[in-house]
Amino acid sequence: MAPRKLAAGNWKMNGDLAALSQIDAIVAGRETGCDVLICPPAVLLHPMVARIGGGDLLVGGQDCHHAGSGAHTGDIAAAQLADAGASHVILGHSERRADHGETDADVAAKARAAHDAGLIAIICVGETEAERDAGTTLDVIAAQLQGSIPDCATSANTVIAYEPVWAIGTGRTPDNAQIAEVHAMIRDALSATLPDVSLLYGGSVKAANATEIFAIDNVDGALVGGASLKAADFLPIVSALAAS
Ligand code: 13P
Repeated sequence: MAPRKLAAGNWKMNGDLAALSQIDAIVAGRETGCDVLICPPAVLLHPMVARIGGGDLLVGGQDCHHAGSGAHTGDIAAAQLADAGASHVILGHSERRADHGETDADVAAKARAAHDAGLIAIICVGETEAERDAGTTLDVIAAQLQGSIPDCATSANTVIAYEPVWAIGTGRTPDNAQIAEVHAMIRDALSATLPDVSLLYGGSVKAANATEIFAIDNVDGALVGGASLKAADFLPIVSALAAS
């Protein structure tokens, strides 16, 4: 089984009901040949699913709680995401690790909850600029993989997203050799446990650099922030992946 190609959009805390018109354009304009996923803010999940109808577009959450239900004000359970129509959930994004102090162990517990609810967990890893400058990138990512992936993970229920923190929303990206080095390390580290897992690159992916990034070995897709908000920006990325 080859890793599935996935173009995933992370809307973060952007978008409203009016923005769902972008979904119509994405459904109408998307190429086949890769999976396409949009992860909107949780309040838009259900209206987005209703808007897509039977359309061939996946939707996902941006986080879930590690518990199945209970007294956790403001949190969302994985089963609630699934009930709203989500197939995936992003976990351990660097913004959650930074804003909410999420640890690798937290991420692993959330991923277990996601798997229990039948969701595919997109587990994010990535180094800060200081860590890259210090030459510790591969060690940092190896430790994040080790701590964030639960033992229930399989190639079918898990996706790994490599997102260098310093490349997110900055317009800067690692050079191709740097992306290739990290993706090769991740593929190697997971070769026994998750041999066919999809590996996404994330951080300032846009139409202008997508084809080049998708040509790098072991890059099976992208996790896209800013350029996923508008169909006109996102569709060329989807096309580049489908053609890769
Ligand atoms: P940008 O594409 O806006 O850099 O964001 C990347 C990201 O964080 C996706 O999860």
